[in-house]
Amino acid sequence: MQKILIEGGHPLNGKVRISGAKNSAVALLPAAILADSAVTIEGLPNISDVETLSDLLEEIGGTVSRQDNNITIDPANMVAMPLPNGKVKKLRASYYFMGAMLGKFGKAVIGLPGGCFLGPRPIDQHIKGFEALGATVTNEQGAIYLRAEELRGARIYLDVVSVGATINIMLAAVRAKGKTVIENAAKEPEIIDVATLLSNMGAKIKGVGTDVIRIEGVPSLEGCTHTIIPDRIEAGTYAIAAAAQGEEVIIDNVIPQHIESLIAKLREMGVTVEDGDEQLLIRPGKTFKSVDIKTLVYPGFPTDLQQPFTSLLTKAEQTGVVTDTIYSARLKHIDELRRMNAIIKVEGGSVIVSGPSQLEGAKVKASDLRAGAALIVAGLMANGVTEITGVDHIDRGYEQITEKLSELGARIWREEMTDEEIIQLQNS
Ligand code: EPU
Repeated sequence: MQKILIEGGHPLNGKVRISGAKNSAVALLPAAILADSAVTIEGLPNISDVETLSDLLEEIGGTVSRQDNNITIDPANMVAMPLPNGKVKKLRASYYFMGAMLGKFGKAVIGLPGGCFLGPRPIDQHIKGFEALGATVTNEQGAIYLRAEELRGARIYLDVVSVGATINIMLAAVRAKGKTVIENAAKEPEIIDVATLLSNMGAKIKGVGTDVIRIEGVPSLEGCTHTIIPDRIEAGTYAIAAAAQGEEVIIDNVIPQHIESLIAKLREMGVTVEDGDEQLLIRPGKTFKSVDIKTLVYPGFPTDLQQPFTSLLTKAEQTGVVTDTIYSARLKHIDELRRMNAIIKVEGGSVIVSGPSQLEGAKVKASDLRAGAALIVAGLMANGVTEITGVDHIDRGYEQITEKLSELGARIWREEMTDEEIIQLQNS
């Protein structure tokens, strides 16, 4: 087990290239189950969530071959193997095996997913969708059992705008008989990416990117090659890091429109952000104005950038208020930032950050993926050395984060943890 160490205060300069989108990747891989021939996905990020899903595809009989960042999945020998335990528990997105296997085989057994603890993360809307399509869904000893004699298109209104439910229902509906309409659908770019893959496979989908998605089921889907979109959350994380500790940083392979809400907030703070076709240039000023942020569904400010942005706010004059309307309990980074000298409190469900404060290096723990990103941003700004444990969370979602930041001039490195440190971490 490793920890990440950062000696803060060194300026960031140069160019960083953004990898393929994690939250697309974790849906595109299971989507390949639906095809009858090989699907190649190009530009996947090299992160542990992708490895885990590739292993799961192999567990159900898929042939998975990897070349650099491209993965080919041949589903020819896949079977409806139950996956009640094991690797499905390692990440949230294993729930996409439900929609994909239901669509392909008419049945699936999938253990309830794991992933970051962000407060309650129900999947009732996924289940509502599967049932509307004609599936019987039961929860038996922590695994979801799905069965359908025949999937039939249906009109499904999502009570909550959900990325996962929208994609999962889409996965099942593309091979259902007849027409499905998903109302109050999520509009995130990752949903468009998954729909693009499915359409290339032969699915008939209209309206993605709006809140009404219409799907005409088809009897079979074929393999194809698909290139993944860049990771808007990784791009946003580097933009925040560049604002926090950069002189001039270019973020390459980004679709600026995907993070317009972040760019607007950075500009409000006084950071210069220039956008090109696939690049962003970030140049912070000497001082930062505080801003308030409220996370919302896309295109609002993403919940996944709330935690790293909170670290940046410690550098701003006066008080900024952060409210997460998607995951109100996504607050595990707060105590750790306080350990680093941040003046920060939680009041009435919002995080209040007073600044500017000079952060100090400390021993801190990443308890979820984006909390880890927040602590890295804080470590870059802090005096002295910050030691971050819980690195496996970070490696689930950021490809080569220590290498990419080192290239930009950060003093950041990994060390193996001692047995004593591992025991301490497990008990904390
Ligand atoms: N919700 C329900 N019922 C459901 C589904 C969701 O009440 O059946 C609620 C959730 O509790 C939450 C809101 O709806 O309050 C939105 O949840 P959503 O379903 O959109 O989240 P998700 O699909 O489980 C994905 C990303 C998250 C990201 C959220 C919101 C993946 C694998 N995960 O989760 O990414 O925070 O959308 O944008 O795509 C991350 O990358 O760090 C991460 C956690």
